[in-house]
Amino acid sequence: MKVNGKHYRTIWIDEVDDTVIRIIDQRFLPHKFIIEDLKTVDNVAIAIKDMHVRGAGLIGATAGYGMYLAALEAPHDSSFDDYLVNAGEKLKATRPTAVNLSWAVGKQLKAMKDGSSPEDKKAIAFKTANEIADSDADYCRRIGEYGVKIIEGISRKKGGKTVNILTHCNAGWLAFVDYGSATSPIYAAFDKGKAVHVWVDETRPRNQGSSLTAWELGQHHVPHTIIPDNVGGHLMQHGQVDLVIVGSDRTTFTGDVANKTGTYLKALAAMDNRVPFYVALPSSSFDWEMENGIKEIPIEERGADEVKYMEGLCDGEIKKILLTPENSPATNFAFDVTPARLITGLITERGICNPNKESILNLFPEKKNYHG
Ligand code: MRU
Repeated sequence: MKVNGKHYRTIWIDEVDDTVIRIIDQRFLPHKFIIEDLKTVDNVAIAIKDMHVRGAGLIGATAGYGMYLAALEAPHDSSFDDYLVNAGEKLKATRPTAVNLSWAVGKQLKAMKDGSSPEDKKAIAFKTANEIADSDADYCRRIGEYGVKIIEGISRKKGGKTVNILTHCNAGWLAFVDYGSATSPIYAAFDKGKAVHVWVDETRPRNQGSSLTAWELGQHHVPHTIIPDNVGGHLMQHGQVDLVIVGSDRTTFTGDVANKTGTYLKALAAMDNRVPFYVALPSSSFDWEMENGIKEIPIEERGADEVKYMEGLCDGEIKKILLTPENSPATNFAFDVTPARLITGLITERGICNPNKESILNLFPEKKNYHG
C-alpha cells in the first residue's frame, strides 16, 4: 500500500537497528502521518491496548514482534522461559476479541520451544515474527485474488456499471500488515480497471471508517463516500448497495463472526434486502475451538469516554471535544457477533466457503482433528 506514492507496511523492523519495531501510529490518521518506535514489550502492550495499532491482523503481527522484543529483554538465566510466558500473558490481556493476538503469541512460544539457548530463541523469535507479518500480507493478497471474482461477477451482471460496496470499520491495509481483508478484493478490482465505489461506514465511536478506511481508499484513489453508520439500511432499500464486505476479529469454526460493533445490524439489513454479505478473513482469525459465537466470543468493552468524546482537527490541531452531558453514563461494547445464517460467504486465503462447519473444514482439512 502506498502513502503519498511511497510503499509502506503498517509494521516493520528498523533498517539500521533490528531491535526496534516501527509502526504507523494510527491514532493520528488521517490528519498526521506519524511513525512510532517500539523498543520493549511494554511499548508493544500499550500500542495495542491504546490502539496505536489496531485491526485483528495487525494486532497479531504486532504481538509477534512483541514476543521477539520479550526474547531480547528476557534475563539470560533459568527464568528466561517464564519471562516469555508472562510477556505473552501481558500481550494477550490487551485486547480480548481479536483471536489473532493469542494465535501469534502461541505461535511464538511454540516456535521458541525448539531453541536450545537464549541466543537461539531470540533468532527463532525474530524469524517467526517476520513470518507472521509476511504471511499476513500474503494471505490478504490472496483474499483479494479470490474476492475480486465476486466483484467481477456483479460488475458483469451490471454491464460494467459501478459496483457499490459497503464496508464497516477498517478491515483495510491499516488493519493488517498490507492489502487488508475486506478491502483487498476492492483494491484488486480497482487495479483491474473495474468501476467500484465504496460506502464507508463512519464506525462510531472511534470512527475507524471515516478516519482510516476513507484515508487509505483515498491514498489508492478508490472512489468512496463516508456515511453515518445508520444509513446503510436506507441505501440497501434503494438498490444503492450491491455487496457488503467486512472483516472479522474472530470467526468460529461454525461460521459465526465477531467484528466491529454494528456489523450485525448491517448483516440484518443486507439479509432483508437480499444484498450479498461477505466476510473476508485470513485463517489466523478463525477460532478452531469455539462453536457458538454469541455465547463464547469475548466482547471487548472499552471506556465510556470513547463514546462521550470525539477527536478531530480544529485550527490545525487535533482536539477532543465532549458530545454528551458530562455526567451521562455510556457503554462501549466494541464488537458484536453476526451469526453464520446472515452471512453469504467467507473469503479466505484458500478460497471462498460457506459459513458452516463442513465448508470451512473442507478448506482447512488439517483442522478436522479438532472436530472429527
Ligand atoms: O477496534 P479495532 O479498530 O481493532 O477493530 C477493527 C475491526 O473491527 C476490523 O473490522 C477487524 O479487525 C477485522 S479486519 C482486521
